Amino acid sequence: MLQAKITAYAKINLVLDVLRKREDGYHEVAMVMQAVDLSDTIHLKESERNWITTNNRHIPMNMNNLAMRAVTLMQREFPGKVPKMEVDLEKRIPVAAGMAGGSTDCAGVMLGINQMCNLGLTQKELELLAAQLGSDIPFCIGGPTALATGRGELIEPLPECPELHLVVVKPPFGVSTPKVYGNLRVDEITEHPDVQACIHGLQMKDTKQILNSMGNVLEKSTFELQPKVKLIKDGMRTHGAQHVLMSGSGPTVFAAFEEKKEAEQYYNRLKPQYPGAILTRTINKKQLDERVEVYGRE
Ligand code: C5P
Repeated sequence: MLQAKITAYAKINLVLDVLRKREDGYHEVAMVMQAVDLSDTIHLKESERNWITTNNRHIPMNMNNLAMRAVTLMQREFPGKVPKMEVDLEKRIPVAAGMAGGSTDCAGVMLGINQMCNLGLTQKELELLAAQLGSDIPFCIGGPTALATGRGELIEPLPECPELHLVVVKPPFGVSTPKVYGNLRVDEITEHPDVQACIHGLQMKDTKQILNSMGNVLEKSTFELQPKVKLIKDGMRTHGAQHVLMSGSGPTVFAAFEEKKEAEQYYNRLKPQYPGAILTRTINKKQLDERVEVYGRE
């Protein structure tokens, strides 16, 4: 029986800028996105019917789940080539966190089906299909470092980020992305992050420049909706981190470091106050290229 095991990596935004509100209700963005070493494991198996199991009771176990929507999309697009599937999601990425947990599971299922069923789709073709299901999913097809524009679905690869060490704090509540965007007043944004400076930093492998150019214009909107997120960000700064940022629409906040030792020491200082803190790092292309494993082929 044909099966696949996929490691689906989370992301952070090193830069998230919003340029304008569009007629279709979405926002035009410019984001530098980065895959990180925090992952869900997806098991795909040919089955009598489409169904999903998961170890996390906070995610929908029905056809609304993005991973399941990826299965039905692929079955619709490639009739006769994609069998019914059982999807098992082993979640480790925090849910509703701003780390693309749902999006990366969705992308992982598409990548897995592409290989399992020998569909031969290119990365660009998969990105186009993925954009139908959500703005962050095309990035999760590729990576590990990319510029995302449009509503987030237009992806251009960027030079790999030098390894950054990260301490991630996910508050014990979620925030709704539509609400965060809905609460944003684009014409009141006074300080836009310098996306080009970040890209230049990546091109030059200049870690300091990358860290110094980090920014996220959604922070203010999320802080208004959930003031606790600002308290967490301020608290993380007080513990001695210089580069602290909310990821995506939040509420996850991360601190980034050049040196592993520095991140480890910071993590140990932070742990008593934030027991759920996670120590992780950015990943490279090699790690990403090994994420799909197909087995059971005769
Ligand atoms: O594309 P996705 O389904 O992930 O987006 C969820 C919601 O977030 C959208 O319906 C929209 O309200 C908001 N959004 C936005 N601009 C973006 C991305 C998302 O306004 N670029």
